[in-house]
Amino acid sequence: MMKLDVTWVTDRAAMAELAAAYVCTSLRGGLTTSLALPTGDTPIGMYERLAERCRRGEVSFRNAKLFNLDEYAGMPPENPRSYHAFMRRHLIDHVDVRMEQVRLLRGDAPDAEEECRAYDRAIAAVGGIDLAILGLGANGHIAFNEPGVPWDLDTHVVQLDQRTRRAHRPNFPDEASVPRIGVTMGIRTLKAAKKVLLLCAGVGKREAMAALLAGREDHAWPVTSLLGHKDLSILAEEALIPR
Ligand code: GLP
Repeated sequence: MMKLDVTWVTDRAAMAELAAAYVCTSLRGGLTTSLALPTGDTPIGMYERLAERCRRGEVSFRNAKLFNLDEYAGMPPENPRSYHAFMRRHLIDHVDVRMEQVRLLRGDAPDAEEECRAYDRAIAAVGGIDLAILGLGANGHIAFNEPGVPWDLDTHVVQLDQRTRRAHRPNFPDEASVPRIGVTMGIRTLKAAKKVLLLCAGVGKREAMAALLAGREDHAWPVTSLLGHKDLSILAEEALIPR
């Protein structure tokens, strides 16, 4: 069993503060430039605070290289439901970063496999990911690495789990339009990140959190692939403390 260092926070606002402070400290240090960034409800408060701090001149993204973790397959960047649009709405359009410093996964690439390889090349060209910020899926996924996926993959196309599709249903007009396929950075890429910041919020994540805290690698819970990472920071809501 591996020991984990978890910082428990009372609520999402406290998580957002600490997460933003962590990112700012990393960026200011100068050694962290390439970031892998999550979507979902969890990181929105962190992005708001980063935008605010950037406006106040307390942090700058001018040397940053931004990547996102995942995307719905087939989804064009202009679609407001795309992760591309999410990243622009919540961070990119509010900080001092130029689009040349940003590489987001193309869900609508004509050849998804080639897009995955091109994405891996872009990550390699900046020397890998310095800081991967991850949310947690109720089924234990990180990015779109669903339960049972191999842990030795870089960017790849993935079939979305039923639980993931249910979680995403509120963002779509009906069940049939919830995407079935995603494109995601793989666990190998994430584990190779120099630092990982994992954000765990929402009571639906209790089971996944418990699997992580059990401290044993378990392919049914992809988040456990992070166990043993040498620079893993975890911020979690107190509501997820196992009872
Ligand atoms: C999606 C994303 C994940 C994210 C998860 C959690 O499935 N692909 O990267 O971690 O949502 O979302 P939320 O923060 O809304 O719970």
